[in-house]
Amino acid sequence: MSLMRSPLVCSLYGVTLEAPHYGLVLPFHSGGALDDFLRDDEVQMTQDMYLRMALSLATAMEHLHTSLEPVVHGDLKSRNVLLAAPWKQGELPKLVLCDFGLSTVRCDVQSTQASTTMPSMATGNRGGGGTVNWMAPELFEGSKPSNESDVYAFAMLMYTYPNPVNPAP
Ligand SMILES: Nc1ncnc2c1ncn2[C@@H]1O[C@H](COP(=O)(O)OP(=O)(O)OP(=O)(O)O)[C@@H](O)[C@H]1O
Ligand SMILES: [Mg+2]
Repeated sequence: MSLMRSPLVCSLYGVTLEAPHYGLVLPFHSGGALDDFLRDDEVQMTQDMYLRMALSLATAMEHLHTSLEPVVHGDLKSRNVLLAAPWKQGELPKLVLCDFGLSTVRCDVQSTQASTTMPSMATGNRGGGGTVNWMAPELFEGSKPSNESDVYAFAMLMYTYPNPVNPAP
């Protein structure tokens, strides 16, 4: 993870692995979730700005998938994209891809304590909310999250962009 630094991807400062206090230590991104931003009637942006935001999201995903230690995000949706700072009228929001609760380090899933812990956190996480609406069909048949299922989730995000609603499963 340390090798995938990018301003588009949330850094990971550390992890706590002592039961029962499993957790991630992350920087605080104070601008709120992209989902809330897109639903805010007071936000007025140009089409060009929305397109630039979509491009930066695609770039962030590409960065995850092609870094030296490739990572499958596993829970991509507009709630898991944050604005780095509160938005100011006329500015392009700086987006940060967050919440790697469902992610696995693709090249080495079984060999570290951290990577074997994350999937069990993921199982609990997936039970609530509308996340299933972003999940690729093969995940319901037991397949592991993959670059391809991330691309499916990205497509769901784009399908409902820039006016977010829960996509149909
Ligand atoms: N690094 C961060 N900086 C600032 N706020 C964050 C950060 N990570 C998460 N949050 C905020 O904390 C809240 C809880 O996040 P959490 O990931 O638990 O739930 P969620 O993203 O709303 O839903 P889900 O559990 O399905 O991912 C959300 O409002 C989220 O925007
Ligand atoms: Mg989240």
